[in-house]
This record gives sequence, structure tokens and C-alpha cells, in this order.
Amino acid sequence: MSTFIKSPLNYTGGKTKILPQIIPLFPDDINIFVDLFAGGANVGINITADKVVFNDNIEPLVNLYKTLQQNSVEKTLDYLEQKIKQFGLSETNGGAYLTLRKCYNECQDPLLLFLLTAYSFNHQIRFNNARQYNVPFGKQRSSFNSVIKANLVAFMNKLHSMNAIFVAKNFDELDLNFLGSRDFVYADPPYLITTGTYNDGKRGFTGWGSNEEQKLLDLLDTLDKKGVRFALSNVTKHKKQENKFLLDWLKKNEHYNVHNIVKNYANSSYNVKDKDKDDTQEVLVTNY
Ligand SMILES: C[S@@+](CC[C@H](N)C(=O)[O-])C[C@H]1O[C@@H](n2cnc3c(N)ncnc32)[C@H](O)[C@@H]1O
Repeated sequence: MSTFIKSPLNYTGGKTKILPQIIPLFPDDINIFVDLFAGGANVGINITADKVVFNDNIEPLVNLYKTLQQNSVEKTLDYLEQKIKQFGLSETNGGAYLTLRKCYNECQDPLLLFLLTAYSFNHQIRFNNARQYNVPFGKQRSSFNSVIKANLVAFMNKLHSMNAIFVAKNFDELDLNFLGSRDFVYADPPYLITTGTYNDGKRGFTGWGSNEEQKLLDLLDTLDKKGVRFALSNVTKHKKQENKFLLDWLKKNEHYNVHNIVKNYANSSYNVKDKDKDDTQEVLVTNY
């Protein structure tokens, strides 16, 4: 575990815990790696490839990564410390958090979004329909602590060593026509049959439903026909529900490989009870 870099964002649905299972299943000769649903960037940041494309449709998140890419670690830490002082941020100062939130929603400074995620409830990133960040304060639990700081430094250092680009598009609007057999697409979409703040369709960005699921499966088939390698993370069942789209697709494509993931996805989601965890089957589907 410790050899992998962890996103400083503690991202909901982040793949940190299962990286030791999925990364060894990826090819080791990747030219362009596309992290189609980058989220916390936990996967792309740990990839060795000639070029890594990080895409996510939450534009403010992508702007934050661009800012981390363009600025030095030292300058970024100084700026964050200065803002923490200026706003009076702490684990208990809810008023300071709300002032910061108002300020971010007016000025959209990407590093203020980073600070918000550090101090917010469960470190969530969520926007309302007017694209205003609306997560409440993570009272007595969330802060820009030493772990988040160390994760930020390691993340930025790795990012600065990579040939990375950041794109903020819906996955079906990204041009993937230039990809070939030495390239690789990793798809970690919102899971249709689990909950997550990014698939409720109420945060100013496209939500996730059966239409998106089917479009993604069709896109992966198109990549497969062109000889582009891919891996898809998903769950085949969760609690009493099965993902019928996924299961039908797997039946139609017997040459795809299904790798069962042992670590339970439910553990990383605060709103799913532990007792349900044995009912969830997470998988990595590959076409190689
Ligand atoms: C499960 S999370 C990815 C987590 C990431 N792999 C990690 O380990 O940090 C799914 C991501 O897909 C993004 N997303 C949702 N719908 C999308 C769409 N239509 N196009 C692109 N990204 C989308 C969400 O914003 C979210 O960040």
C-alpha cells in the first residue's frame, strides 16, 4: 500500500484501497493512459506511461489539478497556510469554513476548493445546480492535517515528474479516436447500483444513469474493436441488486475477462452499513 500515492482529496469512490489488486492487472507497456473518470486521480497518479490523460466532468476539480501541476510545492503550501490564517480555519471554526465557502463560490480560486475539501464533511466535493460548492463543515473531524499535507506533497511531486494533461469533459465527448494498440483506457465510472454524491444528478454536472452506463459499455466495445486495451471497474451486485446492463454485456462479450476484487467497496462509503459488505461484488473487466 505505502508504495502507492494517495490523493490529497480523500475522494469518494477513490480506488486507493484496491490499487494493489488492479494495477498489477494493467499492461506494463503503456504509451497513452487515459483515466476517463479520474475523480481523486488515485489511479492515474500511480501509472507509468509516456503520457497520462486525466478526465473528469467536474470542471472545478480539473482546474484544481491544473493549478497543482503549474505551481511549485513550496508556493502552494505557503499559499494554503496563508489562507488558513486569513480565514481562521480550524477543526472547530464553522464560521470560518462558511466564509471560505462563500469566498470560493464567488472567486472560484482552485486552491480554495482544495482547502474546502480538507475542512468539509467527509472531505466531499459536491455542487448544487448553480455549481456552488455546498458541502457542510466537517466539524471536529476534518482539517488540513499532516496526513493530507504529506499526501499533497507526494501527489504534487509525482505530478511534476509526469507528462500529464487534464481535461474536463463528459466521457462521451472526449476524442479517443487517436488511441491505438499501445494505449490504454481505464474507466472507473460512478457505479449504477451504489450511491455516491457524484451520481445523484443534482450537483450541476451530468448524473449517472442507465443511459450513461449503456453509452460507456458501447464505447468500450468500440475501443475493443480498434484494438485499444481497456479496464473497467464496476460492481456486478450490490446488496440485493444486480447490474443487469453489465451482466448482459459480459454475456455478449465472452472474450472479456472478469477479475473479482476482494476488498469491499462498501467499506469506503460511509452511507453503506458494514453488514451489507459481503453482498457487494466489485470487478475489474479487461479486454486483454
Ligand atoms: C468512482 S469516481 C472515480 C474515482 C477515481 N478512480 C479515484 O480512484 O479517485 C467517478 C468519477 O466520475 C466522474 N463522472 C461522473 N459522470 C461523468 C461523466 N459523464 N463524464 C466524465 N466523468 C464523470 C465523477 O465526477 C467522479 O469523479
